[in-house]
Amino acid sequence: MTAAPGTRADEAPLLDFPFSWDGTQVPAEVEEIRAATPVRRVRTIAGAEAWLVSSYDLCAQVLKDDRFSLKDTSAAGAPRQYALTIPPEVVNNMGNITGAGLRRAVLKALNPKTPGLLEWLREEAHRLVDRMAADGPTADLRGAFCEPYSAGMHCHVLGIPQTEAPAFLRSLDIAFMNAPCPVTGAKINWDRDIARMTALLDDPATHGLMGELAALRDDPEYAHLSDEMLATVGVTMFGAGVISTSGFLAMALVYLLTHPIARDLLRDRPDLIGPGVEELLRVNLSIGDALPRLALEDVRLGDVDVKQGELVLVLVEGANLDAEKFPDPHRFDVHRDNTADHLSFGGGAHYCPATALGRAHARIALEVLLDRLPDLALAVPSGQLVWRTGFMKRIPERLPVTW
Ligand code: HEM
Repeated sequence: MTAAPGTRADEAPLLDFPFSWDGTQVPAEVEEIRAATPVRRVRTIAGAEAWLVSSYDLCAQVLKDDRFSLKDTSAAGAPRQYALTIPPEVVNNMGNITGAGLRRAVLKALNPKTPGLLEWLREEAHRLVDRMAADGPTADLRGAFCEPYSAGMHCHVLGIPQTEAPAFLRSLDIAFMNAPCPVTGAKINWDRDIARMTALLDDPATHGLMGELAALRDDPEYAHLSDEMLATVGVTMFGAGVISTSGFLAMALVYLLTHPIARDLLRDRPDLIGPGVEELLRVNLSIGDALPRLALEDVRLGDVDVKQGELVLVLVEGANLDAEKFPDPHRFDVHRDNTADHLSFGGGAHYCPATALGRAHARIALEVLLDRLPDLALAVPSGQLVWRTGFMKRIPERLPVTW
């Protein structure tokens, strides 16, 4: 696996990436390649060659350096990690939102201090646990809790009816696929979701972020905005937000259910759930692929010369489990002084705009679940969990639990 002595990084045999979809084990390749060369040539799902970056320092360097562009990964002819499932211009979603003058409205809506939001989350978590308790055990914690809790929160933030959640949610199984070639269903779902979100702009009951965006249509200063642009904000915030929050929560639960000492600690010391969420963000394996960037010019990266036009992949689990940055990296330690330096929210220009909401979403879920279901445990051996393949997130298809 490691490059032979004297072999340059770009001469080592090509590795296929991603290495594994199993969310219970860090792929063995991660430590091997970081030790041999943290900037390693790989072949992507789309069949392109790319540089996979696996050390903390170099991952952080790429994310902070604007010569590595996210927007340009969608350029025609650029090497790709996987086929696009969204229109190419939407890759630069937050840049478009900022350019359209909507950044302030979006950031305000994503603030968990919005009156009533935390209370809504807690009530919703209790409602879902009530429903599981009435039916079970056993239950599929992903389908019965993580997904509806997350989709419900996004409907609440967007200000659209909760009844819209299932249809928007269904699209995500295709929208976040890592496929080698374009996926027919992605465009069908995208067009349907944009049409539905556009109709919601005209619905007098719409409030929240979509209500605020709809009201801007009467403001001459925002005459440049089309309904499609506004609907795109809603569809992409729902998609990016739900896949990230429900995926992280499912993986945080997988971690706790396969590490009972960590689970017992957070159950017995609810005051540690806040720092526990941060450490779960560091150790979780939610990101199934890597954060892609295109080199806009030649850049020296570690001991490799990355050429203009080459694809660079930031391996977040490589960074988060790098012993140089986080000593004894596989130990779950809520008292680390640098846990929050993890790269699970990215870094640099594209740092996630919803970190506070993501943290609050997981914290309240864990507080309610561990309090209401103190004996929460996997209902099947962890080796029986079925891991989704060809997807941007690692997720168990079902998370059967008992309590
Ligand atoms: C635990 C929850 C979350 C995690 C782990 C997470 C993770 C990430 C990561 C890793 C990135 C960087 C992508 C890159 O650099 O290529 C990112 C960006 C982004 N996230 Fe999150 N996210 C979470 C919650 C949310 C939520 C709730 C929303 C919206 C409702 C959201 C919307 C976005 C958007 C729009 C971007 C793109 C930012 C840009 O390009 O400037 N995320 N997120």
